[in-house]
Amino acid sequence: MQEDTTSSPGTGREDKPGEQAAASGPGPEEAPAFRFMRRALEVSLLARGRSSPNPAVGAVVTDAAGNPVGEGCTQPPGQAHAEVMALRLAGEKARGGTLYVTLEPCSAYGRTPPCTKAIIEAGIGRVYYAVQDPNPRMHRGAQVLREAGIEVIEGPLTQEAAVSHEAFFHWLRTGKPFVVAKYAMTLDGKIATRSGHSRWITGPRSREAVHRLRDESDAIMVGINTVLLDDPALTTRLETGAGRPGCDPLRVIVDSKGRLPLTARVTGPGTLLATTRNMAGASRQELEAKGVEVLVLPAGGQGRVDLDALLEALGQRGILQLMVEGGGSLLASLVFNPTGPRINKVWAFIAPKLVGGSAAPGPVGGPGVERMDSALTLERVKYHSFDSDLLIEGYFHQPVNGQAALSES
Ligand SMILES: NC(=O)c1ccc[n+]([C@@H]2O[C@H](COP(=O)([O-])OP(=O)(O)OC[C@H]3O[C@@H](n4cnc5c(N)ncnc54)[C@H](OP(=O)(O)O)[C@@H]3O)[C@@H](O)[C@H]2O)c1
Repeated sequence: MQEDTTSSPGTGREDKPGEQAAASGPGPEEAPAFRFMRRALEVSLLARGRSSPNPAVGAVVTDAAGNPVGEGCTQPPGQAHAEVMALRLAGEKARGGTLYVTLEPCSAYGRTPPCTKAIIEAGIGRVYYAVQDPNPRMHRGAQVLREAGIEVIEGPLTQEAAVSHEAFFHWLRTGKPFVVAKYAMTLDGKIATRSGHSRWITGPRSREAVHRLRDESDAIMVGINTVLLDDPALTTRLETGAGRPGCDPLRVIVDSKGRLPLTARVTGPGTLLATTRNMAGASRQELEAKGVEVLVLPAGGQGRVDLDALLEALGQRGILQLMVEGGGSLLASLVFNPTGPRINKVWAFIAPKLVGGSAAPGPVGGPGVERMDSALTLERVKYHSFDSDLLIEGYFHQPVNGQAALSES
């Protein structure tokens, strides 16, 4: 069995352009706008996990005759935005041409000059932007361009772009990272055997998809028991031929008492240990000497790390997307929270294997709910297959609250 053809997980891209076009209602004369915006969405993927706290945007420029002459994506913070990259490639050919960009161009000075200035100076005649920038500092971009005499159109592919920028939008709205929980389980709902053995549950193609998600995430988080039992590296290993080297996310270990061994594979630079005052000073010094960053946070229930304080701290560091890879205790704390799940999206892999054992753990631990009608149900569910494994992707309903963070740009 192959990966299904209805969509690509996590990207918001549908693989049936005809259906999407019909849903958004274009006429045949508008096909180039769809084609170039789809290309801009594809190009934006190259910036994922590398542009935070700026959004991973993609842009395409066509000349006055409608031929593509430049494309680009957001560079790391402080460097050029997607529009500027595409305009640089296009050079003089951009004059009188069209810009397709996945997010409304920025109009304010941040670490870089506003993109609206570059677009006006390049002599662009028309701009299509897929989705409005909800950042109050930036969302005047369309207006600024119109005032400069440029034709500006919102869309096409607004919905796809909103999914593509979902982590950025969530972070802007709440100041916290967009949390994606990923786990793999057997057909009988186990994430390890009764002895704790868990390698591997899924096949190579599923694991490759997980590494792509790591590559696109800014941070990856696990509970300390997962480190003690599995000693994972939590790095990104992309297949050769992926087109670019993998990008390792910040590794976050949730460990209230500082039990992280000095010999663990994650012990070193690029790891953040989220702990409490219950951690011994001596082990803190030893871990810091090995390059681990120690973040002391308030203790919540059972003296454990306060996860809201942790998410806030990660948001302040500009972490837009946080991937949580277990284990069951950490996922239970994130899912069953009195004010609603702290997880936005779930990636659940199911392998057609059975291991049995009432002592073998499931993906989400804790006391659980009492009745089936209290179950938390995912929305906007999609199914993908990777050889014989199934991936179920869905969202938790999120109450809209929290304060806005500001994009650095
Ligand atoms: N198949 C998969 O996808 C997958 C993925 C990951 C793990 N696993 C399996 O999961 C098992 C480990 O899971 P686990 O449930 O035992 O442990 P876990 O979730 O990895 O770690 C739990 C520990 O994290 C610490 N912690 C600190 N603050 C916390 C908080 N607010 N909420 C929850 N925990 C907090 C606690 O220890 P302190 O009190 O000492 O801080 C807690 O005991 C392993 O067998 C591993 O193989 C499977």
